[in-house]
Amino acid sequence: MDIVFGILLVLHLLGWAVVLGGTVVNLRTPAIAKGVLHGVLTALVTGIALAGIASSGSDDDAPSPAKLAVKLVVALVVTGLVVVGTRRPEKVTTGYLGAIAGLTVTNVAVAVLWR
Ligand code: HEM
Repeated sequence: MDIVFGILLVLHLLGWAVVLGGTVVNLRTPAIAKGVLHGVLTALVTGIALAGIASSGSDDDAPSPAKLAVKLVVALVVTGLVVVGTRRPEKVTTGYLGAIAGLTVTNVAVAVLWR
């Protein structure tokens, strides 16, 4: 199971990297870059799978359910913003992209600092 968890974690991190990179690079354009929708969906699905695996064992260092709940809510908001921004590009402003990037960075901090 370790190798499955590791592969999912790699995909999870790459997905969020695509979201953050694709958003920041376009701050001045402003538009949602093509791969960002795929990145966010990959990251969301792998995150939910990781949460399932991490919470299923009797592992002492399993992430706290509160941490996962916070991450899920923030990730759902990010996903909603990306989906709406992809379908209705006229809504996307620098502030809109800033919200996506800021919430993604917030979740990285929650993931790493909340132990
Ligand atoms: C914007 C959204 C998200 C970002 C930026 C993000 C970022 C990260 C990062 C940086 C890690 C590595 C932490 C470490 O190994 O120290 C991680 C791990 C993990 N993520 Fe996410 N994540 C997000 C959403 C989610 C969601 C929605 C879930 C599922 C509910 C989730 C579940 C997990 C799990 C189970 C791990 C591995 C265990 C842990 O370190 O807590 N993540 N995530």
